[in-house]
Amino acid sequence: MNTADLLEQIVREVQKGAAYQDVHPGLIRRVAAQMLQRKRNFREVVKATRNKIYQVGGAYFEQDFPYERWKAELATIDPRDKSRLSAYCRNILQQHASTRERLPILETFYETLFEPLAPVYSVLDLACGLNPLALPWMPLAPEATYLACDIYRDMVSFLNGFLNHLKQNGNVEWWDLLEGSPPYQVQVALLLKVIPCLEQLDKNIVLLLLQSIQAEHIVVSFPAHSLGGRRKGMPENYETHFRNLISQLPWQVKRYEFPSELVFVLNR
Ligand SMILES: C[S@@+](CC[C@H](N)C(=O)[O-])C[C@H]1O[C@@H](n2cnc3c(N)ncnc32)[C@H](O)[C@@H]1O
Repeated sequence: MNTADLLEQIVREVQKGAAYQDVHPGLIRRVAAQMLQRKRNFREVVKATRNKIYQVGGAYFEQDFPYERWKAELATIDPRDKSRLSAYCRNILQQHASTRERLPILETFYETLFEPLAPVYSVLDLACGLNPLALPWMPLAPEATYLACDIYRDMVSFLNGFLNHLKQNGNVEWWDLLEGSPPYQVQVALLLKVIPCLEQLDKNIVLLLLQSIQAEHIVVSFPAHSLGGRRKGMPENYETHFRNLISQLPWQVKRYEFPSELVFVLNR
């Protein structure tokens, strides 16, 4: 069997796992191709591919998301009912580790970051996870466009339903960032807590990705803790690494520190 056929067979085998059937096939193929160089046999390549994808995606949620139940509940909510909508969104943001740790700072996070850029009329939320549910806390201009992407097809479909329900301009794409940014021109791109994940997939991808983003401002953040809750000098290490990485780029950098997140806003 030639390598291309073997790779397709590995991709199909990885997709047989329920947790992987909605993962972007381009990402599965890239990870499997890397593992094929390192592992000895078919089963090891499949296992290592699943493990890597779990580390960058599945590790952030404990169980399958009940999208059908969430959709049914959303259908009963009038988007003008701010208090029901925000209770609904908070509950869902709670289900993904990344947005869960942002909940205590949600009231000030986007207000602080977007205020100097106002009016914010277009956003591209890269590797968004469930973050589109934070839209009610984002001070956007009326008629603003909100675009986003992630690797899970079922998540992307749910998020598009959410945007439609809110009559929010924009959409969410099923997309693998190892291919670069989706080709949208926007005012503000969000790359929130994504860089450590992408570097686990490809050590050299981040600079290329940053250069592929067509935005006036890129908001980049890093977690202050590991998924397991340990701090172990993480923000300091991330900052040194990130400043090194962008030292070649002619962009201005503004730094913000929140209790659970370290943020850099890059201005072109
Ligand atoms: C730490 S979470 C951050 C989620 C969101 N940005 C936030 O701050 O709440 C990392 C996200 O990256 C997504 N992801 C991982 N690898 C990706 C890739 N190659 N392309 C696009 N998204 C990816 C995961 O599915 C997950 O939603």
